[in-house]
Amino acid sequence: MHFTKVEHIGIAVKDIAAANTLYTNLLGAAPYKTETVASEHVVTSFFKVGETKIELLQATDPSSAIAKHIEKRGEGMHHVAYAVDDIKASMTALSKEGFRLLNEVPKKGADNKWVCFIHPKSCNGVLVELCQDRGERINLETEQVAE
Ligand code: CO
Repeated sequence: MHFTKVEHIGIAVKDIAAANTLYTNLLGAAPYKTETVASEHVVTSFFKVGETKIELLQATDPSSAIAKHIEKRGEGMHHVAYAVDDIKASMTALSKEGFRLLNEVPKKGADNKWVCFIHPKSCNGVLVELCQDRGERINLETEQVAE
């Protein structure tokens, strides 16, 4: 099985400062990281919850997927991210299974990950993220650097 765990759950928020305070109160610990991902037009923060994490995402400009998500559906759950050992192998296998990948090569995501998204229409209405630690080596020839 290529998925090793639910790595994190992404939640779209309008005001990440307010949401950080709320989630610190809810989870009993402050975010361990806040990071801007310029290529995705988002600012993110991450909270540890046992083996998995909660990622809060706020748009930094109206072209962001998070801004569009909030405009359509309001704040709330945005994606489920699964950890994989070999993102390129998972992408190839899932593509063959008919899942619609939203990027053809792994791209740099938040929290030092290589990521690939799968269209919600392929996954019962849920946007799925595959992620692999960027510390692990992947073939750099097809690396997409959008930062
Ligand atoms: Co994510």
